[in-house]
Amino acid sequence: MTISRRTFLNGSLAMLLGSASFSQVGAKNSFSSYPFKLGVASGYPRPDSVVLWTRLAPEPIKVGGGISPEPLEVKWEMSLDEGFLKVVRSGKKAASPRYAHSVHVQVPGLRPSTTYYYRFFAGDAVSPVGRTRTAPAPDSLSAVSFGFASCQMYEQGYFTAHRHMAQEDLDLVLFLGDYIYEHSWGDNLVRKHEGPEVYSLDQYRSRYACYKMDADLQACHARFPWVVTWDDHEVDNDYANDLAEDLESNFLSRRAAAYQAFYEHMPLPETFAPHSSDMQIYQALDFGKMARFHVLDDRQYRDHEVCPKPGRGGSNIVADCPERLDPKRSILGFKQEDWLAKSLKDSPAAWDVIVQQTLMAQVVRPGRKFWTDGWDGYPAARKRLLEAASKRAGTSTLVVGGDIHAYAVADLKLDFDDARAPVVATEICGTSISSQGPDLKATEGWMQANPHIKYFNGTARGYVTVTLKKEEANIALRAIETEKKPDASINTVASFVVERGKPGAKRS
Ligand SMILES: [Fe+2]
Repeated sequence: MTISRRTFLNGSLAMLLGSASFSQVGAKNSFSSYPFKLGVASGYPRPDSVVLWTRLAPEPIKVGGGISPEPLEVKWEMSLDEGFLKVVRSGKKAASPRYAHSVHVQVPGLRPSTTYYYRFFAGDAVSPVGRTRTAPAPDSLSAVSFGFASCQMYEQGYFTAHRHMAQEDLDLVLFLGDYIYEHSWGDNLVRKHEGPEVYSLDQYRSRYACYKMDADLQACHARFPWVVTWDDHEVDNDYANDLAEDLESNFLSRRAAAYQAFYEHMPLPETFAPHSSDMQIYQALDFGKMARFHVLDDRQYRDHEVCPKPGRGGSNIVADCPERLDPKRSILGFKQEDWLAKSLKDSPAAWDVIVQQTLMAQVVRPGRKFWTDGWDGYPAARKRLLEAASKRAGTSTLVVGGDIHAYAVADLKLDFDDARAPVVATEICGTSISSQGPDLKATEGWMQANPHIKYFNGTARGYVTVTLKKEEANIALRAIETEKKPDASINTVASFVVERGKPGAKRS
């Protein structure tokens, strides 16, 4: 497919006319210092489009980012080569103070399964060069490789895992939540946040800036398109819908600030921009006929956690709590549940990848206790999801998750307490990029009490790579030597294979 000059010009004109405030945009010639300190990113690849992102912030931590609060013009270009000799698309966009001078450009008219390079210009400054790749054509059956990661507590470790992930050969990266942490915690910290717990829009912006100044994180963003979902720490630990862990008042205005800052710092389509305290991020992406990624949001719409500690919201570990089993409770909300059931039913793909935040498999703890913040707090909703996933013939559902700061590989079943119940889907939970995890004793205990969990390891930090092929999926758990030193090496701690149509991972 070639892009004619006319199509290109029409596209540019449409983009120009699409920016209502364009006539007011200032073309500032110079900034107090380099305005692209937060790097560049791309995301949400489709066969014919991808989203490009950057944010102008000469002084990223400072309120306002070190720029006067007026719209500024940003130019962008996209090329088939790294030297920008074969530019195929270019345009202008207003970086508005409304969204912290971030820009989200959805570039249309691209070719499927194609690698592109992109960069931005503002005044006399040029951004770093990013690389991205479009999704395969709708009828493609070529292999799809992706990496996934979660939980990057800035103070607890370096983002070395991101530097190694940037060296992998991937089509995309999925980030599954806890991109930032709203407060400080943990042991043996290697660096400090820019401030205390964040509540306001300006504070959330500074927190994202603090994380996004990390060179390893920037390298991974600049190398692959990302698709993201969030967990709790993008807002507040263990929050549920409109309820904060400490039951603070006005929580929805805090959530609105947090969601807006998330939008401003992620390579999301403009259609994702929040409306007050609401922001829809669940959606599906197709990679030909090989994979459909169903990206879920299990925070915004969930019922409040059951049987909380007295005077608290958030999680608890409970034995006797019959409300936990109430079928009227949902972790996704019924609207999203219905959307997911339809997305699974309509899927044209060999592999359905459920992209979500936390461990889905049941974990019975000593005393037959359950942790209420994860899927164990919503077992009826989990069963509904797995029933929907198991309805397709030759089903090949892969659930990927994060949150627990441990690798976990599990068989997913409609009844975890029945050893003979069939396995209906395969779960791979990634460990954290840098957040501290459970010790060996804890994970070994959980494995013994939960035979459907084949592997559990919270001692290493890293990410997971998955290659989906027609007949099988190959999975590698990639771990860094330590998160406490910036130059740590990487190795594979375990690898697995899943045969298509035969759920359950086997060691390979
Ligand atoms: Fe986390």
